Amino acid sequence: MIKKIAILASGGNSPAMNNAIITLVRKAKSLGISVELIYEGYKGLLEENFVKSQLSMLSYFYANGSVIIGTSRYPKFTELKVRQKAKQILNKHKIDCLFVIGGDGSYKGAEGLAKLGIKVICLPGTIDNDVRSTVKTIGFSTALNQIVTSIDNIRNSFDSHCGIALVEVMGRRFPDLSINAAIATQAEGLVTCDNVLSVDDIVKISKETWKNKHRSCIIVVSEKVYGYNGLPTLAQITKEIKEKTNRLCRTIVLGYIQRGGVPSAEDRILASRLASFAIDQCIKSEKNKSYTIDYLGAGKIVANEISKSLNLKVKETNKKVYLDFLKYNKF
Ligand code: F6P
Repeated sequence: MIKKIAILASGGNSPAMNNAIITLVRKAKSLGISVELIYEGYKGLLEENFVKSQLSMLSYFYANGSVIIGTSRYPKFTELKVRQKAKQILNKHKIDCLFVIGGDGSYKGAEGLAKLGIKVICLPGTIDNDVRSTVKTIGFSTALNQIVTSIDNIRNSFDSHCGIALVEVMGRRFPDLSINAAIATQAEGLVTCDNVLSVDDIVKISKETWKNKHRSCIIVVSEKVYGYNGLPTLAQITKEIKEKTNRLCRTIVLGYIQRGGVPSAEDRILASRLASFAIDQCIKSEKNKSYTIDYLGAGKIVANEISKSLNLKVKETNKKVYLDFLKYNKF
């Protein structure tokens, strides 16, 4: 029987992680299960940074994009002896199930704990939308909205100057944020790992832009493409385009703006629904069984074994949709 659970967030923060936490706590409490919050992710687990949940304080943060219990990246958790220590601590606190909200790296940590006999349930929380077992991760929608709002503003400004903006977007080489941002902002160009544009390509796109009497040229650029695998850096690319076109040409790195902000309704609902399902799964499953909770689209939520989720092939992205869109976006 599940008497006590613990919750931690891990990896980069992702808006609406709070909504998952609040729902986990509320539903657990309604079922008479006590809850410990672990601050600062796996690092906090090792440091025994446990706090009994105070629901009244937590609930206040449902519309806040930060993670109220903190999160961290903790590479040391890949070490067996560190995970063994974590197991001891969880047992000492009499935790029957640990809930981990994070991305792939956090899932790997959870898998390591599960192999030591700890019951773990993972929820997908990352802006990158790169968790293989789920079609949408908690935080993706909010980050996308942040990016779109920023590019809309950049467009306004560059329209005034007939300029070229190369806007770098996060995603850790997974292109969902950049592809969707490009479509949502009618971007003139898109750079992803498998759609790399050269300086000449971008110059050509900009010429078509002016020919069609558009006043700005927006190129959405996935991070970690330029400057990697022998490609020139984004700054070098921008400089060359400026020299070749003699126009205003700037690199704009959106950076951490993308991970902040008020969580979208879509993210809040997704987080709460996954969390509610996660509690049900925790209660009805066998003592030592661990799971990821996954959204399959069309309202369908399922549970999968962690190792199975981690071994799925990389998700397909809709680059084709963008390339098709680009054919008529010129006019
Ligand atoms: O995983 C989320 C994310 O925002 C990635 O898109 C990005 O590459 C990374 O985290 C940035 O965080 P850090 O500065 O910790 O690498």
